[in-house]
Amino acid sequence: MVSIYSTDRGVEEYVAMCEGQDGRALIDRLCQLIPVGSKVLELGSGPGIDLLILAEFFSVTGSDPSPAFRRRFARLHDDEGIDYLDLGAQDLGVADPAHLYAAIYSNKVLHHLSPDEHQATLVAQRRLLTSGGVVVHSYWCGQNVEQHGGMLFHQYTADALEQLWQANDTVSGKPAWTVLDITAYSELGFEDSLCLTARAT
Ligand SMILES: C[S@@+](CC[C@H](N)C(=O)[O-])C[C@H]1O[C@@H](n2cnc3c(N)ncnc32)[C@H](O)[C@@H]1O
Repeated sequence: MVSIYSTDRGVEEYVAMCEGQDGRALIDRLCQLIPVGSKVLELGSGPGIDLLILAEFFSVTGSDPSPAFRRRFARLHDDEGIDYLDLGAQDLGVADPAHLYAAIYSNKVLHHLSPDEHQATLVAQRRLLTSGGVVVHSYWCGQNVEQHGGMLFHQYTADALEQLWQANDTVSGKPAWTVLDITAYSELGFEDSLCLTARAT
């Protein structure tokens, strides 16, 4: 299905809309949790604004399932030497011990996943993290679940997020994550966003 993120035009409109915004405050949070130089995977890197900031501190790999975003990043940032993979958050591939990450980061991405896909990303992310690895993910805060431009926009309350991330792993029956913190912050409106940090158990 054609979505707002699947065409070059949609991607340029998104970039124009985001002018002046970045996830530096979220990345500061990540800097408090893992050492500089650690391996970090970003999900849904889009135009790569946060990816370039992450690269100031970490050995970072970007990813996005949208060919239009991947093409744009390759065209504009080919000389930065940053890997940018074709990955959907719900299916991150097979864990290779040589490619485990100390952290996985996303900024306003996981609200595009259906409940089943969100369940799948919890399992997939856990597999790709080193022991004690952490995640930092931002979400839109609220209770609306809507479709816009061919994409799902699933808002979460802090309680709903905590329940999702603290739930027992479907395979082991034990909790796979310890939620460290869920903090409200303001992006487009007052406290319209949540930053979740969690550690793999
Ligand atoms: C709101 S944009 C955020 C982009 C970037 N993180 C930023 O802050 O500018 C959402 C991004 O999520 C990506 N996306 C959509 N569905 C996804 C999925 N299932 N897995 C990973 N990324 C996805 C889109 O292609 C898009 O780049």
